[in-house]
Amino acid sequence: MIDKKRQLNNLKNKILRDKSLPLQGSNLVFGEGSSEADIFFIGEAPGLKEEQLGQPFVGRSGQLLTRTIESLGFNRGDVYISNIVKRRPPDNRDPLPLEIEAYKPYLQKQIEIIKPKIIVTLGRFSFNYFMPDRKISLDQGKTFKISNFLLIPMFHPAAALRSTKTLKQFQKSFQKLPSILKKIKELTGPQIA
Ligand code: URA
Repeated sequence: MIDKKRQLNNLKNKILRDKSLPLQGSNLVFGEGSSEADIFFIGEAPGLKEEQLGQPFVGRSGQLLTRTIESLGFNRGDVYISNIVKRRPPDNRDPLPLEIEAYKPYLQKQIEIIKPKIIVTLGRFSFNYFMPDRKISLDQGKTFKISNFLLIPMFHPAAALRSTKTLKQFQKSFQKLPSILKKIKELTGPQIA
């Protein structure tokens, strides 16, 4: 059984070799963080800064995400961060359904390898990837049980940068994360007899 870091690295190399994937003109932003992460944050698609650095969420909205993660007492390196589409759509347009579909097996494999206890989706595209009929405006901050993880949809940090009201809701929803994680760990902790 090869370790999770190696499996993620193998997967990254597989994406790089897969020339059938759309947006080939743009650099791959595979994802980063701990392969043992309990929490996996999933955004939409990389922006310009992310494409330049090859890292997810490192522009202005990424800085807000990082600050908010740190405000909970976590380090960015403790969690895992990626996107549903792993290359930048031109002019930062919304990802197309066929782009989301094409990168789907790779996101699924990342989830399978990391086995996070919680997936936090950032924005409507990643929320609707898991729950197509739901609305982020109604469901942000709620908790949904999906197969073997909890899904918690949050607003996209870029939306939180545009509106003080959204920023407050974004921060409030984030503050629930440590206690939810603690509860999951208590429920799945070592069993006595
Ligand atoms: N927005 C996203 O959805 N993902 C990133 O990586 C950066 C900005």
